[in-house]
Amino acid sequence: IPVEPFDYVVFGATGDLTERKLLPALYHRQIAGQFTEPTRIIGCSRSELTSDDFRKHAQKALKEHLKRGEYDDDQVAKFLARIEYVPVDATTNKGWDALKKMLDDGKERVRAFYLAVAPSIFGPICDGVRDHKLITKHTRIVVEKPLGRDLESALALNNMIGKVFHEEQVFRIDHYLGKETVQNLMALRFANALYEPLWNANHIDHVQITVGEEVGLEGRAGYYDKSGALRDMVQNHILNVLCMVAMETPYSMDSEAVRDEKLKVLRSLKPINADNAGYLTVRGQYRAGASKGGPVKGYLEELGDESNTETFVAIKAEVENWRWAGVPFYIRTGKRLASRVSEIVITFKQIPHSIFEPNAGRISSNQLVLRLQPDEGVKQWLMIKSPGPGGMRLRQVALDMSFAQAFDVRNPDAYERLLLDVIRDNQTLFMRRDEVEEAWKWVDPILKAWDETSQPVQGYTAGTWGPSKAIALIERDGRTWHEPQ
Ligand code: BG6
Repeated sequence: IPVEPFDYVVFGATGDLTERKLLPALYHRQIAGQFTEPTRIIGCSRSELTSDDFRKHAQKALKEHLKRGEYDDDQVAKFLARIEYVPVDATTNKGWDALKKMLDDGKERVRAFYLAVAPSIFGPICDGVRDHKLITKHTRIVVEKPLGRDLESALALNNMIGKVFHEEQVFRIDHYLGKETVQNLMALRFANALYEPLWNANHIDHVQITVGEEVGLEGRAGYYDKSGALRDMVQNHILNVLCMVAMETPYSMDSEAVRDEKLKVLRSLKPINADNAGYLTVRGQYRAGASKGGPVKGYLEELGDESNTETFVAIKAEVENWRWAGVPFYIRTGKRLASRVSEIVITFKQIPHSIFEPNAGRISSNQLVLRLQPDEGVKQWLMIKSPGPGGMRLRQVALDMSFAQAFDVRNPDAYERLLLDVIRDNQTLFMRRDEVEEAWKWVDPILKAWDETSQPVQGYTAGTWGPSKAIALIERDGRTWHEPQ
């Protein structure tokens, strides 16, 4: 369904995010026929470029980042024709009048400012937008992590944005919420009668959330070393996924309804502090090893410095409410792990009693595996009888629904959905201010505990599933990490 005409104003137009994600995502939505004319993409940054220069820049970005077969000359020409560029220096007065003049041409359109810049420039951009009277009735602002590095800085950032924009105009992106499987979790839970009655501590033994990455620092040392895995992945992406798994049924898909329920989950998380962090969390840092069949350096060699930053974290979290009492949520994420796999695994409780002979085979707990990437899909593991006349032999098999096989459609990037949700004015998959702050309220004491107790990083060989302590974290409870397949 096409969206209303819009002007997307992208600050940080020559940056990595714009090139890798935003331009390709918008291009795909154009091909899908979702744009209504007149619709523009207006790049802004400090670089003194003309619109033509920027079109060339955008064309190069598309060539580089679109997959084979996606670059279509006619579509690209059409896409480039809607691109403009205005040099704006957010920290000075330079360029704002020219931007205003350009935007005045589209006063009735939806206007979205996308801040693909460092958070230190959010303030000056918000002020510039306000001072130059660029906010119309249909104006929205999109910001992306890092939304602070602790609660205090997150509050400061939210206050700064809140001085200029109403909360209904603020879209805080977490691209994990745009991933197909994360949205599918809502379909699975709330569009089927099958799971929801079982979705609680009476029937679920535990939940695992794994976000594994093969990449290392990727030239982002400056940012990453100050951040670490807890801030980079858990505070945002993993907590959002956890909320989608654990939340109560919202009364509708309304953005406030969904976010209210997510917020309650965050508020129910068992606090982790200096008393229990050593037991409930594991920090890791990769050492030299192998990735994709070749040798790779350790984190410290890649960084060229000493560092105590974690590139891996595992946590045993708990949601302390009636639905989830006593059900651990084991989460783990890291760089340079064995493979790039992200999945949610729901392990149901064992059957209460077996009627089968011991030689029928072991009866495994039913597991539901939601695969976020790669090969998005859902697998439900069940016990069945092995075919044949050999008596009752039990075996575990999976009802396997790979989205790629089931639907012959391209799997859209998370940004495609989210960028147009901004235009549609749908905040369901965006974080509300209180969610971000609540997530920091849980993460801050963990960071503090690590600091106070000098919790060390455990070395792990690049190309493995993290330090042995992370395995012990779950195995001491008589459980094991699901082996991604
Ligand atoms: C980003 C993190 O938010 O998410 C990166 O800053 C990480 O460190 C990335 O690599 C992972 O996203 P995806 O979509 O590749 O799983």
